[in-house]
Amino acid sequence: LIPGLARLFQSVVNSGASLNFLAPLSLDRSLAYWDATFDEVDSGLRLYVFGADGEVLGTAQLAPCMKENGRHRGEVQKVMVHPNARARGIARSILTELETDAVHLGITTLVLDTEAGSDAESVYRRLGWIKAGNIPNFALSATGHMIATTYFYKLL
Ligand SMILES: CC(C)(COP(=O)(O)OP(=O)(O)OC[C@H]1O[C@@H](n2cnc3c(N)ncnc32)[C@H](O)[C@@H]1OP(=O)(O)O)[C@@H](O)C(=O)NCCC(=O)NCCS
Repeated sequence: LIPGLARLFQSVVNSGASLNFLAPLSLDRSLAYWDATFDEVDSGLRLYVFGADGEVLGTAQLAPCMKENGRHRGEVQKVMVHPNARARGIARSILTELETDAVHLGITTLVLDTEAGSDAESVYRRLGWIKAGNIPNFALSATGHMIATTYFYKLL
């Protein structure tokens, strides 16, 4: 899966999404990120992948909280769909699978943050997430500008 995930991540970051990396994201850096992510999968990170015709088109991650008092909580990270495959229900499908899995794991409080004002913000609202608030000057955009982030939560 790693080469397909790396190509997907490169396309998404290089088309302007804010996902912790700056554009231009090289294939080598993207591959290194996914290698490290699979190490985290070995220690409990949950990875969801959507593919068709041998291509990886979308993915998301669930990081279960490891704190003793937060075992019912998880953070949703790195939700992305290939720019050419958007608005076809792929994110909805991946996040539905993630939520079903979360409930099986006993995780009933989900949190995430995303670039304020981005398409993703509208998508999360559409998918039933509740906006908790904005934090200004939170991160650099893929192109290096300071941007605000919006925190969301969803109770399952
Ligand atoms: C956010 C993202 C993952 C959405 O993926 P997607 O596969 O296009 O989303 P879906 O097609 O499953 O759409 C889910 C819902 O949001 C709606 N939606 C999709 N794009 C939308 C947009 N730009 N504005 C408003 N609503 C939108 C859809 O209509 C759908 O609702 P419905 O099923 O009731 O019709 C995708 O745009 C993306 O990869 N963005 C860049 C990466 C990013 O910002 N990720 C978030 C970081 S946490």
